[in-house]
Amino acid sequence: MSDLTVLGVETSCDETAAAVVRLSADGGVTVLSSVVGLQTEAHAPFGGVVPEIAARAHVEAIDAIAAEAMARAGTGWGALSGVAATAGPGLIGGVMVGLSFGKAVALARGLPLVAVNHLEGHAVSARLAARIDYPFLLLLVSGGHCQLLRVDGVGACTRLGSTIDDAAGEAFDKIAKSLGLPYPGGPALERLAASGDPGAFDLPRALLGRPGCDFSFSGLKTAAARLAATCGEASRADLAASVQAAIARQLAERTRRAMTACAQDLPPGERRFVVAGGVAANGAVRAALQDLASELGWSFHAPPLAYCTDNAAMIALAGAERLALGLTDPLSAPARPRWPLDLAAAAERPTHIPGRKGAKA
Ligand code: KG4
Ligand code: ZN
Repeated sequence: MSDLTVLGVETSCDETAAAVVRLSADGGVTVLSSVVGLQTEAHAPFGGVVPEIAARAHVEAIDAIAAEAMARAGTGWGALSGVAATAGPGLIGGVMVGLSFGKAVALARGLPLVAVNHLEGHAVSARLAARIDYPFLLLLVSGGHCQLLRVDGVGACTRLGSTIDDAAGEAFDKIAKSLGLPYPGGPALERLAASGDPGAFDLPRALLGRPGCDFSFSGLKTAAARLAATCGEASRADLAASVQAAIARQLAERTRRAMTACAQDLPPGERRFVVAGGVAANGAVRAALQDLASELGWSFHAPPLAYCTDNAAMIALAGAERLALGLTDPLSAPARPRWPLDLAAAAERPTHIPGRKGAKA
């Protein structure tokens, strides 16, 4: 395989992002540029992402963001080996914008297109900064997803568990909102928690000791909302710290189960653990998982903070890894609002059925 230089495009939520990444023949990865345009101000008055506003903002921003990514990379369009665009899962209007942009570049430049699963992008995000071989155990924790997956290679994922209600980032965001914190809630809650006592409030510990690797955050969310309404100004930081500790504790407890299950058929040298997604930016979450990994003898990997939240470098790398295997997509590739990584597990144990066991993820 020769070196591959790929333009990545990401528009599945409220970041308009483009990046150029080079995957060398020896497996080395170089991020030549990574540009992320935020829409925070457009959504802030609504306390969350408004899909229609996001889609329109992507249309307005994508040309300039991609041009900037190409300019910063300094390679010229002629050096590209392919274009990778997020094709789902995500807010469909936004996904269509980025995917259409990717298709237009592919058509105009005669380049192969890779329609990338956004979750596969998060899965490879830690590989942007460090060499991490397959297989690895992945905890994917973002605003829309909370899953434990065994990743054996490109596109080869087995889901070990997922949330039965809210995603971890969603829980951070909603609890932050009930504490009166601005959107996006996760980072704001972490800042408030810094001056609080994580042991101050006794919060529900959902699924504790229950077999399997699924997650649940709705009980915590309800309890925290009730406390937020009554706790008074002086205790807000304590509540934020207690919530953060409760989320970190549940993530670590369920990951412990996944590690124990995976260790049965993985030799010690192959016990690699990766945490990715926006919530992986949280210091308390990272620390709890790092402690767990060192206790059980797993290596611990997390992307640099810039690659935890949505970005296009991870999409470019996922695309380059597919391209290296000859996996490309036709210009008719559809945009998909839902697109599970482990299709078999999703069909057998759906997480988006309506009702009590129905995750929105
Ligand atoms: O991966 P991401 O950018 O988008 C999705 O694919 O969902 O993740 C965004 C999520 C949001 O819920 C945000 O509140 C959360 O990640 N997040 C954090 C932190 N930074 C981002 N949650 C807790 N602490 C943080 N420092
Ligand atoms: Zn994401």
